[in-house]
Amino acid sequence: MSGSTKSSLENGVALVTGAGSGIGRATAQAFARAGACVAAADISAAAVEETTALIRQAGGCCTPIVADVTDEASVQAMIDQASAIGELRAACNCAGIAGAAAKIGDYPLDEWNKVVAIDLTGVFLCMRAELQAMAGHGNGGSIINIASIAGHVGLNGAAPYVASKHGVIGLTQTGALEYAGAGVRVNAVAPGFVVTPILSKSGIPFDEAAQAKLASRHPMNRLGLPEEIAEAVVWLASDASAFVTGTTLNVDGGYLAR
Ligand SMILES: NC(=O)c1ccc[n+]([C@@H]2O[C@H](COP(=O)([O-])OP(=O)(O)OC[C@H]3O[C@@H](n4cnc5c(N)ncnc54)[C@H](O)[C@@H]3O)[C@@H](O)[C@H]2O)c1
Repeated sequence: MSGSTKSSLENGVALVTGAGSGIGRATAQAFARAGACVAAADISAAAVEETTALIRQAGGCCTPIVADVTDEASVQAMIDQASAIGELRAACNCAGIAGAAAKIGDYPLDEWNKVVAIDLTGVFLCMRAELQAMAGHGNGGSIINIASIAGHVGLNGAAPYVASKHGVIGLTQTGALEYAGAGVRVNAVAPGFVVTPILSKSGIPFDEAAQAKLASRHPMNRLGLPEEIAEAVVWLASDASAFVTGTTLNVDGGYLAR
């Protein structure tokens, strides 16, 4: 084992969904710093162009891809575009939304379906195409799904998000079992609350007091930074984690240790 965080990434393509913002953008930037050619995918063309510009300005390699993870054809086109750049060696499935906040008894079905379509079915569609590509080229690869602390425990008002993230951990374990023999590793990262636009989009008031309250739920008494999640993803994609598959790495300031 080389122990290098770069070796498996340097000659390959690293795909990131949700790369237009927050954790996905930071992950795309971290993959580029590790020497990968990044395929930065997002439903927002403007956002993914911005990520690409940031990576190129820093001297990295990046191609923007507009893709909707809920759409089978769009996901396949995304994989085809990424594979045209070079051999797909790493993929981080990061696209996600929080959804509206309501108790289960009041949760609207259309909102449930929207969240599950992106946060669970979207991960399945991306994993399916990524696994086919990685098993197909024969040189293996590493898939990292972005789960959440909500993949392990409940979260008030976020039923479809919680159900989806629990599902993502199950998909991760199943993918790991099914593709270990093909040399593809499948892991997840479960972040605690991280400072990104998703927090303000989730309908929870996000002023200084709300931030402090959220921070206090983590034993480290602060929120995470997107870069701190990105570093864990890059490690899971690298040869330094060569014997790690089917695991979920909690990057949560101790949230789940309580
Ligand atoms: N921020 C947190 O506190 C936190 C905590 C745990 C887990 N996560 C997870 O991290 C991931 C990234 O979240 P973030 O905080 O960076 O959010 P974000 O809102 O900053 O970024 C999410 C990105 O996903 C993209 N996206 C949404 N729907 C899409 C679709 N259908 N197809 C393609 N792209 C789509 C958005 O355009 C956006 O660029 C999500 O899966 C989220 O559940 C976030």
